[in-house]
This record gives sequence, structure tokens and C-alpha cells, in this order.
Amino acid sequence: MQQTLRQDRPIVLTGDRPTGALHLGHYIGTLRSRIALQHTHRQYVLIADAQGLTDHASDPERIRRNIIEVALDYLAVGIEPTQTTICVQSALPALSELTLLYLNYVTVARLERNPTIKDEIQARGFGRDIPAGFLCYPVAQAADITGFKATIVPVGDDQVPIIEQTNEIVRRICRQAGRDVLPEAKAVVPAIGRLPGVDGVAKMSKSLGNAICLSASSEEIKQAVCRMYTDPNHLKVSDPGRVEGNVVFTYLDAFDEDKEAVEDLKTHYRRGGLGDTTVKKRLEFVLEALIAPIRERRAVLARHPDDVLEVIRSGTAASRAVTQATLDDVRDALGLFTFGRN
Ligand code: TRP
Repeated sequence: MQQTLRQDRPIVLTGDRPTGALHLGHYIGTLRSRIALQHTHRQYVLIADAQGLTDHASDPERIRRNIIEVALDYLAVGIEPTQTTICVQSALPALSELTLLYLNYVTVARLERNPTIKDEIQARGFGRDIPAGFLCYPVAQAADITGFKATIVPVGDDQVPIIEQTNEIVRRICRQAGRDVLPEAKAVVPAIGRLPGVDGVAKMSKSLGNAICLSASSEEIKQAVCRMYTDPNHLKVSDPGRVEGNVVFTYLDAFDEDKEAVEDLKTHYRRGGLGDTTVKKRLEFVLEALIAPIRERRAVLARHPDDVLEVIRSGTAASRAVTQATLDDVRDALGLFTFGRN
């Protein structure tokens, strides 16, 4: 009975490239949604190692190593393997086959116009030497999403154009097939938007060195908060300060449960008389309260790597069946060759 009920739930699929440890940007962007959704939805989480290769082709070792690290982050943060199926992308061949089929229903010009791709090409400095796999990763991501027939995709706001492109592919395939073989998906984006890095310059990113990891030590949290960007014109405690664009307040908005206390602090800061150190002390306390239990659970789990491996092994096995069934549906809907019925 329980099983049947779960089968009826809407399907959620989301994923991460295993290029490094997950950080607070991931937490705000999607992890928090995933922890909530797993109790009411049928949730799959994909460790997107094949996608990781699209911008780390010269370092496959890094991608391989980080699969287990990302799995540890998931489990430590509260993604429960009894509620969520965790799987490894490159071990799901049906996704690669779907990608290859979908590539025929997308133009290069459309891929080049994708705003996420445009931004990332610039950020990674590819210039004209864009790896074809990178240009096409939105198509592979469409395969990830549709392979599980997901209708809900929790993502950061930078990924929204990819979900739009996924739905274009879905419509194109359905038109070709003459029936709704695949569902469209909806992006679930957090209200708080994008979390800036501690430098306040760009979004939080490990490679930019402005991140706070989910496994950060107390000392690392302290250091990060200490160097956090505030209001450069707030020189003396008595000066009125700006809250907008002040990273410490952005983080308090994102992580402090006591909204009223945060509003009081903002009023006081704007008026003058509240020092950066006092606000930073509070943020340090809030972040330590969030991260300490994650860090402790992670340390315990890390002592049993075989158990973690087993979680992703069995999740991947279950996902193989699901994604293969979708591939069969799509092949059938498009009327492709099979030895069985020609
Ligand atoms: N592109 C996503 C990111 O960089 C990761 C990802 C891969 C993903 N496959 C996905 C996200 C499917 C949502 C759905 O963060």
C-alpha cells in the first residue's frame, strides 16, 4: 500500500556536477528544497559526473573522486536514502541514448543562444574553443529530466533557461511522436535567489574561492564571516550603514530563522550605532548552528565509505530500470527500429 502511494507522487529530479564539495550556495539553491520535497514527492538526485566532464575534461580523476564526496554531503545534509533515490549519471546508459536522440531535435543556433550556456562560456573563458559536449549539455540535462519523467526540478535561478530548453525538446519530441510521450517540467527556484560569495562580487563558487562548504570547520566559518563584504562606507560604529548589497545581511536573510530579530538589526544598522563585528558575530553563530550538525554527521558517515557506495549503487540500479523504460517509450513513440516487431 505504502509503495503504491509513493508511486503516485509527482516526480522530482535534480542533480549536481561532482566538481568539488557542496557549499551554502547549493544549500540555498536546491538542497533545502530537496530535503522538504522528499517527503511528499518521488525524488531522484543525480550525481552528474558525465556533465562534470563537459567542463573538466582534462581532470576526470577530480570528477571520480568527488562522486563520493557529494554523496556524503547529500546524506549529511539530510537527504535520506529511504526517501530519495541517489544515482550516478554516467552509469545510466539510457540517458546517453536519449541525449543522442534529442540532439536531432535541437539546433546549434538555439544552443548558442541559451543564456546559461552563453554566461558559462564567458565565465570559463572558452572563447571560440567550446567543447561540443559543453555546448550540448542542456540536451543531456533534458535527457536527465525526461529520463525520469520528472515534472518538478529544483534548481538555482541560473539553470532556468535549461529547463525552458528541456520543455522545447519535450514539445518537439511529442509533436514528432504524435502523442504526449514525455511530460514537461517545472523549475522550482528558491525565493531568496542567488547567494553571493563571501566577497560579494559573484555568486558563491568553489573555484572563485568565495564559498563556505557544508563541511566547513568552525575556524573556516569564522574566517569566512570575518572577511565578508559589508558596507565600505560604514567606517565607524556610529555611522549609518547600508543593508542592501551588504553580504552579512544577505546571509542573515537567507539563514537566520528569527526574521524579526534580523529586521531589528537592519533598522539599528541603518540608523547607526551597530558595528559590523556585532552583526558578524550573530551570523557566525547562525552558520555554526546550521553547519555543525552537518559536519558531525558527515564525519560519522565518512568512516563507512562502503555504506555510502552501497547507497549510490542501489539507487543507480533502481534508476537504470526507470530510465531504460523511458528510452523504450521514446524509441517506440518515434517508431524506431526494433528487432522484435518489424
Ligand atoms: N546543471 C546542473 C548544475 O550545474 C546540474 C544538473 C545535471 C542538473 N543534471 C541535472 C540539475 C538535472 C537539474 C536537473 O547545477
